[in-house]
Amino acid sequence: MSEPAPYYRAHLFFCTHKRDEDYQRRGCGHFDADAMAKSLKAVVKERGLSKEIRVNMAGCLHRCRHEPVVVVYPEGVWYSFGSDADLLEILETHLIVGKRVTRLLLPDRGEEPLGQHHKPR
Ligand code: FES
Repeated sequence: MSEPAPYYRAHLFFCTHKRDEDYQRRGCGHFDADAMAKSLKAVVKERGLSKEIRVNMAGCLHRCRHEPVVVVYPEGVWYSFGSDADLLEILETHLIVGKRVTRLLLPDRGEEPLGQHHKPR
């Protein structure tokens, strides 16, 4: 039996996690990540792309130092964004044209330490 084709062409996971104010990093959810992700989801639907591109909310993705963040699969490309315009650029450049929005890319794994970013104050 052959493996089924991917259900979606691309999957975006948005961290929408929120921590209380006792933490050094309060989470992507404090940067309106949830509202911006929902706006992008609406655009994906308006453009008739929701059968091939799925937008999902997620908990902490453990790259909090770049908050707010989104990861795009299947490539596993990470972005930090600050506006609806940034997300539209990711949709149009990455998901439609197939290029990268280099100004929003997160560094490679080897270029930053993991952890130590959401300790209590
Ligand atoms: S709170 Fe968003 S990546 Fe950790």
